[in-house]
Amino acid sequence: MKYQNILSRTENGITTITINRPSKLNALNRETIQELHEAFEEADNSAETKVIIVTGSGEKAFVAGADISEFAEFSVEEGAQLAAKGQELLFDLVANLSTPVIAAINGFALGGGLELAMAAHFRIASDNAKMGLPEVSLGVIPGYGGTQRLPQLVGKGRAMEMIMTAGMIDAHQARQYGLVNHVTAPEELMGFTGKMASRIMKNSSVAIASAIKAINANYEAGKNGFEVEIEEFGNSFGTADFKEGTQAFLQKRKADFPGR
Ligand code: COA
Repeated sequence: MKYQNILSRTENGITTITINRPSKLNALNRETIQELHEAFEEADNSAETKVIIVTGSGEKAFVAGADISEFAEFSVEEGAQLAAKGQELLFDLVANLSTPVIAAINGFALGGGLELAMAAHFRIASDNAKMGLPEVSLGVIPGYGGTQRLPQLVGKGRAMEMIMTAGMIDAHQARQYGLVNHVTAPEELMGFTGKMASRIMKNSSVAIASAIKAINANYEAGKNGFEVEIEEFGNSFGTADFKEGTQAFLQKRKADFPGR
């Protein structure tokens, strides 16, 4: 088997990447982060994959955080290196992927788990999910982008409260906060998320990749999102997908996008 800690399977245009260490509540150790890096890259480069869903195995957890047993003895330098490498290999990679990534949060999403879900392009949770950034209860702070992405998604005050209290919120509160877009029964989570992926897949993958780039530009230092939007908007006019989309509309038929 290619991976020890994750499963990756592609069916009908959807690659489902499942973090598969249920006995450790799918905690992210170094090896798992490396495998996730490879699986996301592979899916993004595959012509077969139109949407990626990331989820956790078992009924209890999406991901209960970074693997605490791995960093308990780290020095200042090793701590900084852990965060830098993790952000580069996985969290920034996912956030900037041109293939849409949906997190299907099936249970605890804590620390690095919530940070992974927040790096995804949007989130759907089962009603038994619990989310939080408990790092300060361990004497550390979120290091995989949590201090930046949580306030972007829920607002500064709510992020401050969640991070300072180290508490968990349930799926319904997460929806109220805008942290997750939808809440489902646990047994409906993957079906609902799959249907959402199928809706996305009907659209132009090239235009979606451009939209992701333009939306993300707003959150990147030194970038002007409006300028990126103008550039990406202009680029759309040179794509085969644009020709097909506009022709299909004028001919009153469904578009069949070539993805170029
Ligand atoms: N890192 C390493 N191992 C973890 C882990 C993590 N982040 N989260 C859970 N585990 C392991 C436990 O050590 C335990 O392993 P063991 O059976 O070998 O002892 C196993 O997963 C099951 O967890 P357990 O704590 O027994 O389950 P629970 O139902 O009693 O509690 C949680 C569930 C999620 C509340 C609890 O596991 C927890 O608080 N985890 C840490 C969350 C956290 O602080 N994450 C941020 C890390 S920066």
